[in-house]
Amino acid sequence: MERLDKLVAAYSEYSRKDVRRLVKEKRIEVNGALASSFDQKIKDEDCVLMDGEPIVRKRRIVAVLNKPMGFVTSTEDPRDRTVMELVPRDWMKMGVFPVGRLDKDTEGLLIFTNDGVLAHTLISPKNGVEKEYYVEHTGSAKEEDIKAFKDGMILDDEVLKPAILIPIGKGKSRVIIKEGKYHQVRRMMAIRGMDVTYLKRIREGNLLLGDMEKGEWRELDSKEENLF
Ligand code: URA
Repeated sequence: MERLDKLVAAYSEYSRKDVRRLVKEKRIEVNGALASSFDQKIKDEDCVLMDGEPIVRKRRIVAVLNKPMGFVTSTEDPRDRTVMELVPRDWMKMGVFPVGRLDKDTEGLLIFTNDGVLAHTLISPKNGVEKEYYVEHTGSAKEEDIKAFKDGMILDDEVLKPAILIPIGKGKSRVIIKEGKYHQVRRMMAIRGMDVTYLKRIREGNLLLGDMEKGEWRELDSKEENLF
């Protein structure tokens, strides 16, 4: 909750003093009704209009979603439900987008931001930010598979960066990669004769998914942002 005068002053060219006048002049509406006073409390989801135009509350957002299966990682899609349906509606207006991609059937940690520099840092293969996945698959990972991952596998005629394959039980492994090629983990496992039956991203940089519920999102604080 924020006071109307503080909010309008933060996201427009008007000062808090101006807002007192604008309220008196009946130029500000909150959820379709004239603002009652300059110190009216405004909730995140409230729609504030000045002279009929929305006050768009743009601030830097860095957040994480535990993406469930069945949603595509894009802002629009003609057929499928998108991850934007799972996060606050006004994020779209604030230019927030998903960073990198998780397949429709992949679950887990997905970052959202409206900070293009941060997005670039996380995605650029030059920076080699680690992404760790929990993988369920057919067969079992063996020593030669671990070595193949480490040596740099070939995908689309390109040598991949060394990756880490850690078997953790029959048909279960953890995989750590430093790029984000299309279906990368599924294809790397398939090359080694293992079909992925379940895939979940559990870490990006040093940021862990932890025990977030499927479909749950939360904004990161500045300490957590240092984990990338
Ligand atoms: N690798 C995949 O195959 N799929 C993902 O969603 C992420 C990494």
